[in-house]
Order: sequence, then structure tokens, then C-alpha cells
Amino acid sequence: MQFSFTEEQKMIREAARNFAQTELLPGVIQRDETQTFPQELVHRMGELGFMGLMVSPEYGGGGMDTISYVLLMEELSKVDASASVIVSVQNSLVNWGIESYGTEEQKRKYLPRLARGEIIGAFCLSEPEAGSDATQQRTTAVRKGDHYILNGTKNWITNAGRAGLYLVIAQTDPTLGSRGISAFIVEREWEGVVVGKKEDKLGIRGSDTHTMIFNDVKVPVENRIGEEGFGFKFAMKTLDGGRIGIAAQALGIASGAYELALRYSTQRKAFGMPIGKHQAIAAKLARMATEVEAARLLCLRAAEAKDKGEPYGLLASIAKLYASRAAMWITTEAVQIHGGYGYVKEYHVERLFRDAKITEIYEGTSEVQRIVISRSLAKGDRVLLTA
Ligand code: CAA
Repeated sequence: MQFSFTEEQKMIREAARNFAQTELLPGVIQRDETQTFPQELVHRMGELGFMGLMVSPEYGGGGMDTISYVLLMEELSKVDASASVIVSVQNSLVNWGIESYGTEEQKRKYLPRLARGEIIGAFCLSEPEAGSDATQQRTTAVRKGDHYILNGTKNWITNAGRAGLYLVIAQTDPTLGSRGISAFIVEREWEGVVVGKKEDKLGIRGSDTHTMIFNDVKVPVENRIGEEGFGFKFAMKTLDGGRIGIAAQALGIASGAYELALRYSTQRKAFGMPIGKHQAIAAKLARMATEVEAARLLCLRAAEAKDKGEPYGLLASIAKLYASRAAMWITTEAVQIHGGYGYVKEYHVERLFRDAKITEIYEGTSEVQRIVISRSLAKGDRVLLTA
């Protein structure tokens, strides 16, 4: 275990911090208010290599490790969690899913454009009746010779309105339960792919969340990922890594709110001194810093395990459970420390407070993280470094 970063990791953190502070920050309040997708900024993130950070150079990506990805996600999320969720879905779910389980042809066809940010990807698992209980897929893919006919509705799909391709999880044999589910790469332009209602969300309002409808979409067999019946495991394995990205997003929201609260508490005076010198505020700041650091270590630990090729699903769920709860608590305290200023948009903490909530919901609610953690422990998986 190493407690320092490589030069390359420091460089990506610096590039992400610089981009977030100079390019994301200026329009973030307005994008949140008007629910505007940051199209130009996504283009910039493609140029900077953020959209394909971990994709192997062979397929046009940066070939960087998961620790670098955590550093990137933290810096972006401190300022704009809407921008960071776009990066997270692209890297953790779409790019990683295709690179890890796609055919050579699928990788060559899709990864370079995804890695450059020329196309955005979306991950279609959740349905109106299948959120946490993801085995209950109603979307069907029926094989007809050299293609499948895909029908169904997906809910809460991040990036949906702007995506060029969708990874779609569908039932191919309802008699087999979770073993009868398959995964497909579906292109936006194909007939029957319909972008449905846009959600008007509490937080991450600059990200683009829609219902997706698939009406008799003809999907070539060569666009299936893995064998028929591999789709549920594909989704679960992909989400294991996704949860590191979302944990890092929660970490960034938490550390962003903490830093704003710390700064404010040195500037704002009450009763003749900076409010940070009053014990009530100082104690809050001390605990906020402690929570941030603990969440950071858990994110890095999960990332390190993934980079070393060790099991990381359990660590990812622990990191997500902890960091999302920390984000909710820290942003609440950051609003409180700012008093009335915390309740208005100009001071940013009210947005971070609204953004924090989604980290307890997507890529598995906190309740699902507890299921994953407890089942994994019951199987004998261990997390302690001494185990
Ligand atoms: N890796 C590999 N295989 C796994 C796995 C994992 N992490 N988790 C489960 N599996 C396998 C099991 O081994 C089992 O395989 P066999 O049939 O061979 O035995 C199979 O999958 C079924 O597993 P379970 O019986 O454990 O399934 P379950 O229905 O009891 O529950 C669950 C599993 C953990 C609750 C799962 O449904 C889950 O994670 N739900 C949450 C879904 C979720 O996170 N959705 C988020 C949507 S995406 C999103 O939010 C993206 C975004 O917009 C930002």
C-alpha cells in the first residue's frame, strides 16, 4: 500500500482541478438553473482525455489507472457533479464494459470515438419496475436469425438525450431468470430508438436524464456483449467499477462543500471574530475534514484493488456507501455554516447539497450497497488489509 501519487496521477489531478476551476465553474449555476447539458465542455473534456481516461491507448484512450480516475472525479465533482456524472458513466460503465467484455470488432468500432468524447454512451439497466431489483427486466430481445428484436422501456438513463450509443440490458429467455438476461450495444440512429421524457431533477440538473423507449429495434447479433445470458453478470460487474466512480463523485461533492465552508468560516465574522473560531463551527469543520479524508481513503483503496487485479466489488460498495453518506452530511453542514447565504445559489453549497442526494440513490441505493456488502461478507470476502 502506497500513500503517495505518481507524477502521472498528480498531473491528471492538476489538469482536472485547473479545468474545473477555470472552465466548469463560470457557468455552473446557470446550467443547474436552466438544466443545460454542458455540450461544449464535454467536447473539451474529450480533448483533455477525460472521456477515455482508462481506455487502453490501443483503442485511443489515455491508458490511465483507476486511482487517476478517482482523482479526476473528485476534482470535477467539487465544482460540477453534472459534468462528472457524464464522465463517470462514460468511463466506468460504457468504456469499461465494452473494453472488458466486447469483441475485438466492437472495441475497434466504438471505443476510439467514445474515448475522444465524439460520442457519449449511456447505460440502460433500470426500468419502471426494475430499479434495485435489477433481475426483473421486462425489456425483451427476441432472436430472429442474425439479429434480435428489442422492445422495452428504460428509466432514469443518464446521458440519454445526448448519447450516440446505449448499452441495453434485456431479457432473452424469461424462463432462466437472471441467467436469461443479455447485454447489447444499440446505436442511436437505429429505427425504433426513441428518447423519451426528460426528468426535471432535484440535483445534477445539468446532466441529461431521460426515459428510453426501444420499439422493435433490430439489433445485429454481433452487437451482443458476451454470450447470451451473460447480461446480468455483465451489468453487475460493470456496476462494481461504476460504484468507485460514484463514490469519488460523492467524495468530490463532500470535499467541495467542506472547502467552501472552511473558506467562508475564516471570512465571515460574528460576535467579533471569524465564525470558524467559535467552537460550534470549529467542531463541525473538524468532523467534516475527518469524513472527507476517510471517504477519500476508501475510494483510493477500492481503486487500488481494481488496479492490482484484486477483488474490488465489496470495497467499491463500502466506498460508495460511506462517501455518499458523508456527502449528504457534509453538504448539510456546509449550508448550515453559511447560514442564509447557504440557502441561495450564489454560494454554491445549496447546489452541492442537492447534488449529494443522488449519490445515495444511483448505481445502487445505500440499501443495495448494504445488501452487496453483507452478502459478500457472508461469502467470506474480507476487506481488512490484514485479512
Ligand atoms: N459480479 C458478478 N456476478 C454477480 C455480481 C457481481 N458483482 N452480483 C451478482 N452476480 C451474479 C450472482 O453470482 C448470480 O449468478 P448465478 O446465477 O451464476 O449464481 C447472479 O448474478 C444473480 O445474483 P443475485 O442472486 O445475487 O441477484 P439478486 O437479484 O439477489 O440481487 C443485487 C443482486 C445486488 C441487489 C442487484 O440487483 C443490484 O446491484 N441492484 C442494483 C442495481 C443498480 O445498481 N442499478 C443502477 C442502475 S445504473 C445507474 O444508476 C447509472 C447511472 O445513471 C449513473
